[in-house]
Amino acid sequence: MSRSFGNPEVITKLLILISISVFTVSSRPIVSNPDDVATRPSEKTFVLKSSDGVKFEVQLQVALQSDAIRQMIVDGGFSDKMVLSFPNITGEIMAKVLEYCNKHVYYAGAVNNITAMEEMRAYDTQFVDVHYETLFKLVLASDELKIKSLLDLVSGKIANMIKGKEVEEIRDMFNVKQGSCVDHSTKQDYLRENAWAF
Ligand SMILES: *[C@@H]1O[C@H](CO)[C@@H](O)[C@H](O)[C@H]1NC(C)=O
Ligand SMILES: *[C@@H]1O[C@H](CO)[C@@H](O)[C@H](O)[C@H]1NC(C)=O
Repeated sequence: MSRSFGNPEVITKLLILISISVFTVSSRPIVSNPDDVATRPSEKTFVLKSSDGVKFEVQLQVALQSDAIRQMIVDGGFSDKMVLSFPNITGEIMAKVLEYCNKHVYYAGAVNNITAMEEMRAYDTQFVDVHYETLFKLVLASDELKIKSLLDLVSGKIANMIKGKEVEEIRDMFNVKQGSCVDHSTKQDYLRENAWAF
């Protein structure tokens, strides 16, 4: 079930996600207003379970930054101590996503505070200063959880990393083996057609 980075399908999906995200730079607020789903107190908590069985107790307000979780709650209702499982997201990545969400809930309450906004930008810069494999996992996780601001942040970082690089260099950077692609020419065409992103 684990996703391999040598898998051409996964790489194509990542490139598409990055392209879409860079195209549609979000004008949405960093945190969505939880009031439209739940007029419940923010101290309500429930549990997120990762693929490797790690459980995270999260505040509703924090988790509602994920449009996927919001939709699950709209569809399935909310109960205290309920468990939502994410079989594609490891505990390590879930912890990072939740750290981001926690921080951004705080900053969302401080939009008129210049010091806080500068802190947030510094936090974001530091947050994406990680190995590219972690960035790729964060792209997939933020896509699955539908956290647009995080997807934009991480995709922007990857787009910057590969900007101005040749296809060969990108392949080396991300350790994509020539032979790993079932239809190699298709991917090269894809990279060429989307050269603006690099
Ligand atoms: C997990 O990943 C698989 C393969 O990419 C996908 O088909 C499935 O919908 C994902 N599961 C969830 C809960 O999103
Ligand atoms: C502005 O943000 C800073 C940093 O987060 C915080 O220490 C300070 O108390 C905030 N000021 C106001 C007026 O909320």
